[in-house]
Amino acid sequence: MVNRYRTLRKNPAIREMVAETQLSIADFIVPFFICEGNNIKVEIPSMPDYYRFSLDLAVQEAARLYEAGIKSILLFAKVPDEKKDEPCSEALNFEGLLPKSIRAFKKEIPELIVMSDIALDPYSPFGHDGIVQKGKILNDQTVEVLAKMSVVHAQAGVDLVAPSDMMDNRVKHIRTALESQGFSDTGIMSYSAKYASCFYGPFRDALDSAPGFGDKKTYQMDYRNRQEAIRETLRDIEEGADIVMVKPGLPYLDIIREVRDAVHVPIAAYQVSGEYAMIKAAAANGWLEEDKAILESLYAFKRAGADLIATYFAQKIIENQLL
Ligand code: PBG
Repeated sequence: MVNRYRTLRKNPAIREMVAETQLSIADFIVPFFICEGNNIKVEIPSMPDYYRFSLDLAVQEAARLYEAGIKSILLFAKVPDEKKDEPCSEALNFEGLLPKSIRAFKKEIPELIVMSDIALDPYSPFGHDGIVQKGKILNDQTVEVLAKMSVVHAQAGVDLVAPSDMMDNRVKHIRTALESQGFSDTGIMSYSAKYASCFYGPFRDALDSAPGFGDKKTYQMDYRNRQEAIRETLRDIEEGADIVMVKPGLPYLDIIREVRDAVHVPIAAYQVSGEYAMIKAAAANGWLEEDKAILESLYAFKRAGADLIATYFAQKIIENQLL
């Protein structure tokens, strides 16, 4: 008996026919960094070709992406220093940047799925994802604020809130708060297995949100752990998460696969800022072919079992018609 595996690779048509993994523009979640002001488009130094937008330009950009097949965006706010305080009160301002943005996107592009970041780091003078007291990041006090923040975003019309903080029990509190205010169809995409990672560096440049002291290891996960990811994820689903997430992406494909085997809800994976920066830097040096590196990395997410991918490459894929 002779095996001829190459028969199924012999030309593009046959390879297309037997390809096991599909990637489509509808899989992408596009992160937006929104800043105050008008007509502002600023490139993020550690994320070449990626921009922070004021709301007016962000809506235009999102409309263009929606026309090209993008189904969802994920909003982050860049909050000016003078609005940061210890209770993170700006996070609950109904007229704040994120609620205002949610209303604008839902008004201009009603069919676009709008998700919003639920975390306190952009609002905290300490750059931590929680309320800080005497150098400690407090869990239960933080969760209360996150639940209220989720209600504020729901009132503004968000489709899904996306808690990215990794405090214990926050999904339960968010779900309960949403229900108690009548927002039974506002969803939760929970960052369930989020690791303490150096790959978030460029994102913290984008939002000016690097932690002012210490690191995030008392709430984000230790990258040596695997079982803990499953535990966290199952728990979030029990608490009411509609979509779960693994983050970062490429260094954690094993975790995506294990979560895929363990749960029956949609899984999102986040190709984070540092992963973007690595590909851009290598390509800028002529060391990698950028378009090919983008596609290969994104197919790897899908092969590992992700349904949705938050990525900074969606614009590029559309522009260069890579799919
Ligand atoms: C913080 C948050 C981070 C990211 C998304 N939400 C950074 C962090 O946890 O410090 C990272 C995204 C990226 O690097 O692309 N709530």
